[in-house]
Amino acid sequence: MLAVNGIDVYYGESRVLSHVGLSVGTGQVVCVMGRNGVGKTTLLKAVVGLLVPRTGTIEFRGHEITRRPPYERARLGIGYVPQGREIFASLSVRENLVLGARRKQPVPAQLEYVLSLFPGLGAMLGKRGGDLSGGQQQQLAIARALVADPALLLLDEPTEGIQPSIVDEIADVLRRIRKEGGRSILLVEQYLEFARSICDRFYVMDKGVVALEGERQTFDVDAVSALLSV
Ligand SMILES: Nc1ncnc2c1ncn2[C@@H]1O[C@H](COP(=O)(O)OP(=O)(O)OP(=O)(O)O)[C@@H](O)[C@H]1O
Ligand SMILES: [Mg+2]
Repeated sequence: MLAVNGIDVYYGESRVLSHVGLSVGTGQVVCVMGRNGVGKTTLLKAVVGLLVPRTGTIEFRGHEITRRPPYERARLGIGYVPQGREIFASLSVRENLVLGARRKQPVPAQLEYVLSLFPGLGAMLGKRGGDLSGGQQQQLAIARALVADPALLLLDEPTEGIQPSIVDEIADVLRRIRKEGGRSILLVEQYLEFARSICDRFYVMDKGVVALEGERQTFDVDAVSALLSV
């Protein structure tokens, strides 16, 4: 589904990712962990197309997308929920969802599906995005990405700074998507237990490189914790 092959990503002359590789299979949930500033967001931005690697390649569903613009990647089926949510605060919940659909009107079945994942949003369609709580905005950001029915959903720390009840709801939604199969998830997540409970495969980054990776069965809590502690 997704293969990142030895990418180097720079901000100006400073190299932030060194030879990073990662793969996500169809229907898999893959978690990326790592301390603050190790390059997790940079990696997702390279997959989305907001940053272009200097070397290495990125393949998605058989296409080489390393240098393709973000809109083309979105069209190929990559959905992105950025860190910090970035919903449109002055637009209504409904308008946010319509924009997420990237067409004049969302496919009704897809809108219905998304609202079945987040029933709370259905009651708030007319509300301004900016009037939602942080947790509700996060749910809206996920819903907005899902309206376009992406084959691969990228989530950058969806539980960061969010009340525990909504963290549980988001975890349930990701588990449901995983169970439904067909859609892959690449999740940047700092909560070790959450990551361990949901991932098929995991990567732990350290200062721009992949320091540890493996399948769910090989997830060694002590080894991962050591890489996450400061
Ligand atoms: N626009 C930028 N220009 C220059 N350096 C940047 C830029 N954005 C990030 N960096 C640097 O690149 C490195 C990786 O940043 P990145 O945001 O990818 O880390 P992260 O793992 O997502 O961190 P966090 O857990 O805090 O979200 C950091 O050292 C950061 O300071
Ligand atoms: Mg980040």
